[in-house]
Amino acid sequence: MKQLKGRVAVVTGAASGIGLAMARRFAADGMKLVMADIEAGPLARALAEIQAGGAQAISHRVDVMAEDQVNALADAAFGHFGAVHVLCNNAGVAAPALRTRAWESTIADWQWILNVNLMGVLYGVRAFVPRMLAGGDEGHIVNTASVAGLLTGANPYHVSKHGVSCLTEGLYKDLKLMGARVSASVLCPGLIRTGILEAERNRPSSFGPPTDIAAQSDDVKRWAAAFRSSLEAGYEPAQVADAVAEAIMADRYYVIPAQPFLQDLIRTRMQDIIEQRNPTIAAPPA
Ligand SMILES: NC(=O)c1ccc[n+]([C@@H]2O[C@H](COP(=O)([O-])OP(=O)(O)OC[C@H]3O[C@@H](n4cnc5c(N)ncnc54)[C@H](O)[C@@H]3O)[C@@H](O)[C@H]2O)c1
Repeated sequence: MKQLKGRVAVVTGAASGIGLAMARRFAADGMKLVMADIEAGPLARALAEIQAGGAQAISHRVDVMAEDQVNALADAAFGHFGAVHVLCNNAGVAAPALRTRAWESTIADWQWILNVNLMGVLYGVRAFVPRMLAGGDEGHIVNTASVAGLLTGANPYHVSKHGVSCLTEGLYKDLKLMGARVSASVLCPGLIRTGILEAERNRPSSFGPPTDIAAQSDDVKRWAAAFRSSLEAGYEPAQVADAVAEAIMADRYYVIPAQPFLQDLIRTRMQDIIEQRNPTIAAPPA
């Protein structure tokens, strides 16, 4: 899709962080917007900001964990604008003690994070892609994974993001094999300064209590503190949004706005696989 002006974009997780930055960038490029999020207050403020800038935009409250709500989002988007050209399945969550071992995350952690990060993206693909294809227009799906979808860890966040990378690469191939006018990109940000470490603000009580950092092992506590400082010193969400807009216009599949040390870790992992050598162990944070 060479140009974005006049086209319709749907962004989930649009009330904060990377999703809000994408909405701002798309609005600046003259797109019409459907901004979706679970948090009503921040979503209303984000919509008001985008509309004040002159863009045609609507908001829709959605919990991406619920397939019927994602279907209703698609109904609202197609109903209001008549077409959808860009879909960003971006809403996602993490626990602050993200780097737990497989047996240390609770089953509720696994279920909540996999439901939002992986099933939420799948519901988006199922609700929108057939209708985008049927519309016959050019289109683009951007699924937000993470560098965690290219690196590894036995925790729900890394596992959910691997699911998103696999799903999106398969989607890209299927669309190309069909000769479709709709394409796909996987977004794998590195460390970005957003509200992700406060993601448990949206954790339903049916998925267990929020993480008690004080109850974690010293290793996990150290890791969580180092991770928080790294995110605070991370890239701005606007940088990610610019990379996404450029990737859509260039039909570039991999969008990896990530710090050089993360790019090095990805390269090392890929080399481990190619050479069939055992996984390289990166030094834990000090
Ligand atoms: N911040 C980073 O460093 C980073 C790095 C890699 C990937 N990501 C991914 O980027 C995406 C956006 O996260 P962010 O960093 O901007 O965080 P953020 O917390 O600032 O924004 C996430 C948004 O998603 C919304 N959301 C959460 N659960 C939802 C649900 N069930 N249904 C609908 N909306 C929901 C939140 O209300 C919030 O507005 C996520 O998928 C995240 O995993 C972030």
